[in-house]
Amino acid sequence: MPHSPNLTTNQRSKVVIAVGGGIAAYKVCEVVSTLFKIGVEVRVILTNSAQKFITPLTLATLSRHPAYTDDDFWQANHPRPLHIELGEWADLLVIAPLTANTLAKLNSGMADNLLTNTVLASTSPVLLAPAMNTDMWEQLTVQRNWQQLLQDNRYHGMSTASGLLACDRIGAGRMAEPAEIVTHIQSLLHTKGSQDLAGKRVLISAGGTREYFDPVRFIGNPSTGKMGLALAQAALHRGANVTLVHGAASWNAPLGVQAIPVMTAAEMQQVMLEYLPSADVIIMSAAVADVKPRDYSAEKLPKRSLPQSLPLEPVPDIVAQLAQHKQPHQLLIGFAAQTGDIVTPAMAKLQTKQLDAIVANPIDQPHSGFGSDNNQAILIDSQGRKLEIPPCSKLQMAHQLFDFVAQ
Ligand code: C5P
Repeated sequence: MPHSPNLTTNQRSKVVIAVGGGIAAYKVCEVVSTLFKIGVEVRVILTNSAQKFITPLTLATLSRHPAYTDDDFWQANHPRPLHIELGEWADLLVIAPLTANTLAKLNSGMADNLLTNTVLASTSPVLLAPAMNTDMWEQLTVQRNWQQLLQDNRYHGMSTASGLLACDRIGAGRMAEPAEIVTHIQSLLHTKGSQDLAGKRVLISAGGTREYFDPVRFIGNPSTGKMGLALAQAALHRGANVTLVHGAASWNAPLGVQAIPVMTAAEMQQVMLEYLPSADVIIMSAAVADVKPRDYSAEKLPKRSLPQSLPLEPVPDIVAQLAQHKQPHQLLIGFAAQTGDIVTPAMAKLQTKQLDAIVANPIDQPHSGFGSDNNQAILIDSQGRKLEIPPCSKLQMAHQLFDFVAQ
């Protein structure tokens, strides 16, 4: 007897994960496990070929609910057919891995199994994470199907990564990593699939800059760039073309984002000014080291030769320069990392740097600021409007910022 999805009345988000028949199916276990841990309700569909790679039992155990197969589809389901129940239940459908076969079926509107029938019986957004051998992925027919399908705004495509594939080829076609899929799911649950930044170019700076006085010693700060990374992810998931200019980082930029690594404030200034003319929205979330050592030694200084005091020079105020060069249609947003009263100094910076908005965030509160996955802030715009963003993940904060921008 097939199991009906419980139609829940609480606020938990509901996601259907549909697994196609590719070796990347094993990575979907991690996606389902993480979604359960963060409180998302998950129902899983496996195609017949997916079951050659992983079992319904694995995914049923991880999702805490029986997983569905075509055997369930071909049995009477009460009160309504299974694909209708699942399709209407889901806030979001995710197909991972998306195979060439399922892609072709979706693009031609076919409905010959539980997965494809559920997609057609639903109007919810669909996230697609393709995975296949490089030659398969690069076939003209496959690329044509992919491009055509993405013309329908309901479908959200994730880029494939390049790397060593299970077929021993090194090339494109590797499925996005589970963490990246989960982040994209979180974004789509927030936006309900809106692509409100489609066609927009978003330029973001992230992380801390470093000013070296010899090859190993520098002036810097504890910024990890996580806020800028979250902004890049959120903008990408809302359809923007994203350029991320970042200082030293321990993370990889999301697939599909143009990432430009820099080290010093001068390098960041040069890249930001270069990309400014084509940007619609510019967000300076980088923690720029405000000063640099006046002198630089190309050789590592022996400990005994270290200076007793370090003469310093100011570095350029990048955001203030961007404000001077920007066009009226461009939106420039800065960040103000503060201790104590966060609003008064942020309002002063908003005015002196001539920004359109500033995000004042405390760095002396637990679970926010440098290095944390969470943050809190007060967003202030040039008309004096304020939006309080209570403690939340940096991704959620990024989306609230873009919601504000969209208004
Ligand atoms: O003046 P303060 O450094 O606190 O201002 C913070 C804002 O200014 C942030 O948006 C930061 O990225 C930017 N900034 C800058 N260049 C600097 C210092 C800060 O663009 N040299």
